[in-house]
Amino acid sequence: MGLGLARETTRTFEELRSREFKRLDEAGHAYLDYTGSGLYPESLITEHADFLRTTLLGNPHSEGSASAHSTRIIEDARRRVLEFFDADDEKYAVCFTANASAALKLVGEAYRFEKGSRLALVADNHNSVNGIREYARARGAVIDYLPLTDELRAMGEPGEILPEVEVSSGNLLAYPAQSNFSGVQHPTSLIDEAHDKGYEVLLDAAAFVPTNRLSLHEASPEFVCISFYKMFGYPTGVGALIGQREALSRLNRPWFAGGTVEYVSVQNRLHQMQSSAEAFEDGTPNFLSISAVPRGLDFLDHIGIEKIHDHVERSTRILLDGLRNLEHENGAPKVLIYGPLDMKDRGGAVAFNFIDQEGHVIPYKLGDKRASDINISLRGGCFCNPGAAEAALHIDADQSYECLESFSPGEFSLDRFAACLDSEAVGALRVSVGVASNDEDVNRSPEDPTFDGVFS
Ligand SMILES: Cc1ncc(COP(=O)(O)O)c(C=O)c1O
Repeated sequence: MGLGLARETTRTFEELRSREFKRLDEAGHAYLDYTGSGLYPESLITEHADFLRTTLLGNPHSEGSASAHSTRIIEDARRRVLEFFDADDEKYAVCFTANASAALKLVGEAYRFEKGSRLALVADNHNSVNGIREYARARGAVIDYLPLTDELRAMGEPGEILPEVEVSSGNLLAYPAQSNFSGVQHPTSLIDEAHDKGYEVLLDAAAFVPTNRLSLHEASPEFVCISFYKMFGYPTGVGALIGQREALSRLNRPWFAGGTVEYVSVQNRLHQMQSSAEAFEDGTPNFLSISAVPRGLDFLDHIGIEKIHDHVERSTRILLDGLRNLEHENGAPKVLIYGPLDMKDRGGAVAFNFIDQEGHVIPYKLGDKRASDINISLRGGCFCNPGAAEAALHIDADQSYECLESFSPGEFSLDRFAACLDSEAVGALRVSVGVASNDEDVNRSPEDPTFDGVFS
């Protein structure tokens, strides 16, 4: 990017910050938890409130003009989502869900796992993906966890990452386009390898799409899950399963509900599922919130997702450099970063721990508390991604098994786990940047001298 263009881009984001996110500066708050949730721009709230104030919307399952209006809004929103992700309407359908987790569950509970079929999971997965293994296990499928390298990437040469399948159907690969732990972007070439080997693919795009272009024309996973609040902060309670129509039609839903069926006969114990996205939308869809989705996508498009990507890349680089350069007086590093140290194939989330002069990890809770005291939002723990945490923190499987088995229900806590393992390295801190981040935010976290509080 030329200098002039870079300056223009910086100005765009400065203006955006003061126009849409001034509440951050009014509160003196450094928000560094975009992987947890995006922040809503003020205009999205105002426009949506204006729309609701002036529009009559009824339950889309009823008849009448208020209902027809809601139905139209939902269908428009489906089209807009497909357009945003460059997806062909004939190939893909958008099923609105409560969030990404609900979209993942829809696939897990209805997938055709069978004895001997395979569920392949990259060890770096959110628990809402890990949970699918319980459906696979119940149906006798083999569960493979694909191990991670020291940089927390899927291990193996391209084309040799996945195990061969043994039966011809019911094989599924599930992986995140971007890790919510390390920010690693796992390659779309995994999709091709999976297809070549006879797997279908469930791509968890929840952490990827807020700051990266996903084109379902270029990559063709059978299923994709997202949460809209991660993309533009509002509304919560709406996500989507974007699925290939054919792949969706091969799923066996384990139940039916209001809205999902063409007919149900009680006396004949018969029902017929809808043949469209509605077959996956149980009960009344969140039609009021869904009406905000196209506006949120317009907001991102108006700035340009590529520009957002570049902005986040720049902020992440500052963050990484800042953290890496933090030193104790004796020159020892103050921070241990988990995952890639440069910007190659990674997004805007960085996981790390503070370490003492001897290199021992300082409990993440101290950093978490310190950050909160000085008005910095970040995330502490293992971020619902135990596989990446186990690999990053080198947690010994046998030792951890013994500890975990020793806890009665209700007894587990990371503190107790740490005590049992005799290690402080059971969790980490995560900072993540987004559309509203500025240099002050990212400089503040590593360089603020008050952060030294974690060492005293
Ligand atoms: C990569 C990834 N997948 C799935 C989820 C689950 O999203 P939700 O809680 O919105 O269902 C998250 C949430 O942080 C995530 O980061």
